[in-house]
Amino acid sequence: MIIKLESVKKIYGETIKNTVLKGINLEIEKGTFNAIIGQSGSGKSTLLNIMGTLDKESEGEVYINGVSTKSLSKNDISALRNKEIGFIFQFHHLLPEFNAIENIMMPALIEGVKDAKTISKRAEFLLDKVGLLKLKNNMALNLSGGQQQRVAIARALMNSPEIILADEPTGNLDSDTTMEIYNLLREINKEFGTTFIIITHDNRIASLADRIIEIENGEIAKD
Ligand SMILES: Nc1ncnc2c1ncn2[C@@H]1O[C@H](COP(=O)(O)OP(=O)(O)O)[C@@H](O)[C@H]1O
Ligand SMILES: [Mg+2]
Repeated sequence: MIIKLESVKKIYGETIKNTVLKGINLEIEKGTFNAIIGQSGSGKSTLLNIMGTLDKESEGEVYINGVSTKSLSKNDISALRNKEIGFIFQFHHLLPEFNAIENIMMPALIEGVKDAKTISKRAEFLLDKVGLLKLKNNMALNLSGGQQQRVAIARALMNSPEIILADEPTGNLDSDTTMEIYNLLREINKEFGTTFIIITHDNRIASLADRIIEIENGEIAKD
């Protein structure tokens, strides 16, 4: 089990309590490709952010690779997140005034653990993997939506994470590009054994996943 949630609750508000997650139990198997579906406001993003340690549960316990995040300090959690988890969002948050390869290298350069040459080699390998090596010097601003999302995918892979969490990664892409991006994510899943958890509104993508988890009103309605 690469991720395990035990009775995870998320409660917002002090006076008026809004229980957004109502005691989620969930185990994600290593190397699988999982879809999360559900209506808007059902708690999907909250759930994903808690699995990714970007947000903290109000109650319950989250295990990443068997390690309870409760047992870790803030710094240890950041380190774990950096090493094990890559994120892809609907709006890719690329730096518009930097080119494709710089956008991929940036997080690793900021972290400063490896030398620039190793980092640029890896970034080029990943750009090639997502089919954009030819555009490596193009400004992010001048790439199409689908191309920008490919760069964001390459960036998420930079630290060779075991887990990729994606929140509606194809939400603002057309139907053909959505399928291309899905195929690319599946390829990465097969080739590197990366575990994927993807929130999607797209029924085609959900139906192609290994597993579909449906969230309804803060609970798992179907699995
Ligand atoms: N930071 C927050 N503060 C208060 N309420 C929040 C916060 N984030 C999300 N919520 C509430 O939690 C519920 C679930 O939100 P979310 O997880 O974003 O749903 P989904 O991704 O399924 O659309 C919503 O009712 C939303 O208003
Ligand atoms: Mg959401």
